[in-house]
Amino acid sequence: MSDEPSWSEFYDRVADRPPHETVVGALDRFEREGRRTGFAVDLGCGDGRDAAELARRGWRVLAIDAEEEAIERLRARPGLEAVETLVARFEEATWPRADLVNAGFSLAFCAPEHFGEVWRRIVESLRPAGRFSGQLFGDRDGWAGDAEMTFVTRSEAESLFAGFELERFDEVDEDGHLVTGAPKHWHVFHVVAKRA
Ligand SMILES: C[S@@+](CC[C@H](N)C(=O)[O-])C[C@H]1O[C@@H](n2cnc3c(N)ncnc32)[C@H](O)[C@@H]1O
Repeated sequence: MSDEPSWSEFYDRVADRPPHETVVGALDRFEREGRRTGFAVDLGCGDGRDAAELARRGWRVLAIDAEEEAIERLRARPGLEAVETLVARFEEATWPRADLVNAGFSLAFCAPEHFGEVWRRIVESLRPAGRFSGQLFGDRDGWAGDAEMTFVTRSEAESLFAGFELERFDEVDEDGHLVTGAPKHWHVFHVVAKRA
């Protein structure tokens, strides 16, 4: 991943971007069910683009990221004073039961040797009728082969959601760009899923 920007540069580039469609989709679905607020865990929250939307909609949020700089930037955003934060790696972090676990473009950065356990804890932490929203990276992604990251085939991605109702499962497999403008092939699953 030599062409990958540093996290610091990444946070600079995405600072003004809106929340991901996946978290918005999950929140809209909760609202349609009459559940206007709840407790969300934002895993790999970065500088807080999704946490900001959760807080704006009145959700209680625990935002977790391995990078101290991410949490500092999140805390500097207006309106996020009530957001709880934790600097921790996925595999070290613990979190309470939640209505929503969100992971916007972050879980792929979990090393394969930890991914299964982290995924198990995500699923177990979801309350009945809770949701997962976020992205998984596919096996044809331009970074596939990076031993520190986790990539899944379509059928592996689908089997992660056994016991869920898949409300959105969109596969993107196309050439595109990094936030820096450098070319990259993206193979990504965009997911919103509701736990039975
Ligand atoms: C591509 S960024 C996405 C950030 C944010 N969710 C967004 O969409 O803007 C991935 C984030 O995951 C975090 N991250 C990477 N590996 C991690 C790990 N093992 N544990 C926790 N966070 C990690 C990085 O620090 C980074 O902030």
